[in-house]
Amino acid sequence: MQDVTDLAFMRVIAGYGAPDYFFTEFFRVHAQSRPERHILRSIDENDTGRPVFAQLIGEDIAHLLRTAEELARHPIAGIDLNLGCPAPKVYRKNVGGGLLREPDRIASILAALRDAVPGLLTVKMRIGFEDDVNFDRILDIVNTSGVDMLTVHGRTVRQMYRSGVRYDRIAHAAARMRCPVLANGNVTSASRAAEIVRDSGAMGVMIGRHAIRNPWIFRQCRDRFAGRAQGRVSLSDVREYVERLYRSTRVPGLPERAHVNKMKKYLNFVGQGVDREGAFLRDMRRAESESGLFEICDRHLLALPDAEFAPEPYPGVIARPNCETPAADAGGCSLEAVTA
Ligand SMILES: Cc1cc2nc3c(=O)[nH]c(=O)nc-3n(C[C@H](O)[C@H](O)[C@H](O)COP(=O)(O)O)c2cc1C
Repeated sequence: MQDVTDLAFMRVIAGYGAPDYFFTEFFRVHAQSRPERHILRSIDENDTGRPVFAQLIGEDIAHLLRTAEELARHPIAGIDLNLGCPAPKVYRKNVGGGLLREPDRIASILAALRDAVPGLLTVKMRIGFEDDVNFDRILDIVNTSGVDMLTVHGRTVRQMYRSGVRYDRIAHAAARMRCPVLANGNVTSASRAAEIVRDSGAMGVMIGRHAIRNPWIFRQCRDRFAGRAQGRVSLSDVREYVERLYRSTRVPGLPERAHVNKMKKYLNFVGQGVDREGAFLRDMRRAESESGLFEICDRHLLALPDAEFAPEPYPGVIARPNCETPAADAGGCSLEAVTA
């Protein structure tokens, strides 16, 4: 996830139980692009014990090949092509989710990448742009391209993050594809992961936002799939996570206020499991300093330290109201959306 899954965040997650694979933030690919240094760090200095795929977003074949070749000199698990980003400024350039309007272009890109990438080549896609009329056609293109794994986020680009997730379409993809399919979208807990895998026939799940909220989720999934009991997470565990996240993601030279604002982006998700009224979220969004932020954390997380951190987000407690609610404006939808 852009602005999230950097090296510091991956390390924090790994401390609570890493996923089988990580995926980098996307490398932007165009005529002037060079692989972004801070994203390269999440590959070169990856000490999480788990492999990391390098994700590319772009549509220019020559530059995609150049970038894939350059990244092959780094310790990557493979190359992942982004066919899902719904940000208007991205899809208007015909990259990410924008490419879902042009199946023939996808075919050319994947054919070229497959020839050039000796290792694993994977794709992450949504079910379509406006609707899912091209879905089967694109699945067949991915199938014949010899892609090694496909992740399907069960929404269209237009739906951004607002609608329900079409797990039936993910099941359709799992049945049609020769390669393993990962189900993505609102995998909120290990229980949901187990249900989604069972019902869709997917090989596994990809988890995004809910790993920010609950960094224990990958360990919980592993326990759940192995038939072991899942550990309970308390609010004091969450207080410790917030502290760790704060210290680990701090960039030298970044002013305190800016770092507090960055923390709010993560805490928007964490707050979904703290209290059903969203009181922690409301208070946290007003913090202006490190001491203010931690005073709010202590008040909400240490008053009843043994209370359970909700395994599912509380209904109606929304991390990013301007892009995760049905009436939201389509303009911007990033981690920035609801921060001060
Ligand atoms: C802040 C943010 C950044 C994201 N960046 C990327 C990205 O760089 N590449 C990508 O494939 N998906 C990206 N996504 C989409 C997620 O990978 C995922 O498909 C989506 O959030 C739905 O899954 P979830 O419910 O598990 O979060 C991003 C999502 C968010 C919220």
